[in-house]
Order: sequence, then C-alpha cells, then structure tokens
Amino acid sequence: MKLFAVFGNPIKHSQSPIIHNLFAKQTGILQNYTKIYVPINNFYEKIFYFFKNGGIGANITTPFKKEAYKFCNIITTRAKYAGVVNTIKITNSKKFLGDNTDGIGLLKDLQNLKFINSTSNILLIGAGGAAQGIIYPLIKFGCNITVINRTYQNAKNIVEYFNNIKKINCLKLEDLFINLDNTIKYNLIINATSSSIKGNIPNIPSSIINQDVFCYDLFYNIKITPFLKWCINHGAKKISDGIGMLIEQAAYSFYLWHGIMPNTKIIIQKYKKYN
Ligand SMILES: NC(=O)c1ccc[n+]([C@@H]2O[C@H](COP(=O)([O-])OP(=O)(O)OC[C@H]3O[C@@H](n4cnc5c(N)ncnc54)[C@H](OP(=O)(O)O)[C@@H]3O)[C@@H](O)[C@H]2O)c1
Repeated sequence: MKLFAVFGNPIKHSQSPIIHNLFAKQTGILQNYTKIYVPINNFYEKIFYFFKNGGIGANITTPFKKEAYKFCNIITTRAKYAGVVNTIKITNSKKFLGDNTDGIGLLKDLQNLKFINSTSNILLIGAGGAAQGIIYPLIKFGCNITVINRTYQNAKNIVEYFNNIKKINCLKLEDLFINLDNTIKYNLIINATSSSIKGNIPNIPSSIINQDVFCYDLFYNIKITPFLKWCINHGAKKISDGIGMLIEQAAYSFYLWHGIMPNTKIIIQKYKKYN
C-alpha cells in the first residue's frame, strides 16, 4: 500500500489523516496515511527515513515548513513565493519535489464562501509562516493586501520579501488605530496569527468591523474561535474559520500525489455538520 504521512510537532490533533482517508475512500485509492511526531531537531532524519522506506508523499506542518523547503531538490513556483513547503512528493527520479498548497487552499475556500473577488481590499493580520504562504495567490488573484502584525518589523520583512510589489503594504498597529474615521476600508479581514490557539485575539480596532466585512480566521477549532466571536460581538455577520482551507489545501496535496482532485464540498459539509 502507498505510504503517506503528516510530520509536525505537536501532531496529535492533526485532522490530516482523517481528511486524506476520506479523499482516498471517495476516489477509490488505496493508501496508508499516518501522523509522525518529530522531535524539534530531528526533521531531516525523520523525513529521510520515511522516504527511504517507501514513503511516496508527505505533508509538513508547524514548525518544519521552512526546513522542508531546504530539504527539497525541486520547488514549485508557488512554494518559492511562499518560502515554505507543506507538501513533498518523491519523483520517479528519486528527487524531492516541494509544493505549498496553503495559499491556493485558502483562495479556493474564500471563493467557495464568496468572501473574495479580484478587487478585494484585504487586511491580513499576522506575519508568520502561514501569512507568508497565503500572500502570493491572493495578490495573483488581484487583491490588495495590507499586513499588520504585533511585531511591526516582521510585517515589514514580509512586504520586502515580496519586493515591495504595489499590491502589498504594511501598517503599524497604531496607524490602524489612528484611521478610526475609516478612510481605509477593508472588505476582508484575515486572522493569520496563532493568537486563537491560546484563546487570545490580535489587537485591532473594532471600528473596522461591520456587517458587510468578511472575517476569516485561519485557525480551526470545534468551537467558534475567539477572534470570530469578537468579530460577531462587533457587528460581523459573515465569518468563517479555517476548516475549509485545511480541507482545500489537503485536496491540492492529494492532487499532486495522485493526479485526482477529490470533491471537497461534501467533506467540508460533513465537518460543518458534525462539529
Ligand atoms: N487552516 C489551515 O489550513 C491553516 C494552515 C496553516 C496555518 N494555520 C493557522 O494559522 C495560524 C498561524 O500559523 P503560523 O504557522 O503562521 O504561526 P507562526 O509562524 O508561529 O506565526 C505566528 C504569528 O502570530 C502572531 N501572534 C502570535 N500570538 C499573538 C498574539 N497573542 N497577538 C497577536 N499576534 C500574535 C505572531 O506575531 P509576532 O510576529 O509578533 O510574533 C506571528 O505573526 C495558526 O493558528 C495555524 O493553526 C491554519
């Protein structure tokens, strides 16, 4: 049976094996997809061992996406822009191909939800690995992005990484608070910080939220995330967590490995229904 796995630390709560097994069942593919816990300094050893022993493909999650990028011999264009790899495939010539499906997965989910169009003005909160990974497909789609982050220098670094492309800029948090008359309007606010993991919310002015603004949290939990709850309390009506992105990015990984695109809508509905 073909071997696949997700590598991370922590990894216990990863939904990837469930999602990939649903895809496999749906498409009639026989595969074995497991979770592999990786001690912090052991990524290269673990991933190499996996592929040496018959592994065909791997998903990489926090905190190893940058190491995965360095590990691969061939990098797709979207992974190059992201600077991180979340999907690896071993090629017929035994090379490691690295891809990043997070950004395209998010864009697909935002399109499914009708949260985005090519003129959307996006406020992206956060400047970590996930934020960097989603910027390129959103800009390519036509959107304008303003990055804000707790540590301003990290937001600046991201804008510089994209060579100061016109469609992306960053603001200091205090400047966002000064804009209380709402001269800058955002159609979509994306929380790409990890603040929800610890039950916190990023520091942004509530005046930028209203019933017409789409609010999206990359984080996913069985309960509503703290950020989305805060958005609702300040008048938001159109909200979503990151479960759709998680399923869509998994589908693009599945496609890279098997050449078949699973039907994600059925699985997203299943998750929303039972959780
Ligand atoms: N749905 C999906 O498929 C999917 C995929 C990937 C990631 N994610 C989610 O995306 C989130 C970010 O992941 P990541 O890999 O980018 O993490 P990361 O690289 O560790 O970056 C964390 C970011 O969050 C900010 N931050 C952390 N705690 C904060 C707080 N209390 N208040 C304000 N900002 C805070 C950090 O700001 P500083 O720069 O100031 O430290 C940084 O910008 C996580 O919740 C992860 O679960 C979801």
